[in-house]
Amino acid sequence: MASSVAESVKRVKHAVYAFFSRLAVRREASRAFRYDREQFMKNAGALHLDRKAAARAEIVMGYHVLEKGLTMPRRRLGFGKGAVVRLMGLVDSFERRFGADPQVEHAVGVLRSYRELHREWPEPMPRLDAFLAARPNVSAALEPHVKRAEFFAAKDAPFPEFAASRHVVRHFAGPVPRETIEAAVALATTAPSACNRQHARVHVVDDHALRDRLFAAQGGTRGFGSDADKVIVVTSDLSAVRWGWERHDCYVNGGIFVMNLCYALHYFGVAHCILHWSVSPEVDRAAHDFLGIPPNEAIVQVIACGLPPEEFDVAASPRLAASDVLTWHGDGK
Ligand SMILES: Cc1cc2nc3c(=O)[nH]c(=O)nc-3n(C[C@H](O)[C@H](O)[C@H](O)COP(=O)(O)O)c2cc1C
Repeated sequence: MASSVAESVKRVKHAVYAFFSRLAVRREASRAFRYDREQFMKNAGALHLDRKAAARAEIVMGYHVLEKGLTMPRRRLGFGKGAVVRLMGLVDSFERRFGADPQVEHAVGVLRSYRELHREWPEPMPRLDAFLAARPNVSAALEPHVKRAEFFAAKDAPFPEFAASRHVVRHFAGPVPRETIEAAVALATTAPSACNRQHARVHVVDDHALRDRLFAAQGGTRGFGSDADKVIVVTSDLSAVRWGWERHDCYVNGGIFVMNLCYALHYFGVAHCILHWSVSPEVDRAAHDFLGIPPNEAIVQVIACGLPPEEFDVAASPRLAASDVLTWHGDGK
């Protein structure tokens, strides 16, 4: 009798603790999401295009569209006319407001590459010609054309060379064996995670009707998605999230896993292109539904992959200097 009373008290205590703990997490999460919203509204480049970093990011996005066009598998001349005009406008405006910048210079280089590719194009491009003539010191950006063997040659090289050799590839010419995907995923599980909770999950889509549906929803694979053999969808299990303050954890841990997976795919000679999952709630819900992904798994990233052809083009995608991204807090000794 005494023991069953003690059991009941324990159960009630536990239920009370669980109730207040859930309440605390709900409160934390509401405050955290409110804070995120404010931070986003005050700082997101999309809402503050007058800022230098936002203007530069827009230019990088603009030249990236053209770089992609220049390195696409079935490149058609005359592509991206609107993107060219827009990019020239952005560069003009940036230079007037902020002066020179290496990323902006690369944008000019990409525009020169575009012009050189269109040397024989019958339509005149007077505006682009004038734009380039005003910047005679910037040479055409080089978009590397590589042989498969050399692209993957740093497979066993020391990490600095291996890391520098990894790039997304948008050229796919064959199937990736199931065992290779399994080996890459096994390697990717070496990724660290908060308290070793290992939030990441992996779904592989090799049904091409589903692939096309996913890519139509995602919108970032025009011109190459239909060549992909498989699509890897990395998700993060929200069940592993313990506190309201951890509202970003599924994406942080999922993102670290994604990077590890990309290195693993590169190591195994698999051409892959990371794809954003910046979609509306409706698209996200629909994708969960048609892919059969459980609702507790947040979709973090989509990766198109396939075996690469013998030769292909890679977008240059130059990086910021370390000094642009590194800030010391202290004397840096
Ligand atoms: C989060 C994320 C989203 C991306 N989304 C796309 C995409 O939708 N379509 C695409 O072609 N490439 C996409 N990429 C590939 C980037 O364009 C590429 O990683 C970047 O230009 C750097 O080039 P690199 O990976 O070859 O070094 C994405 C990359 C990341 C990390």
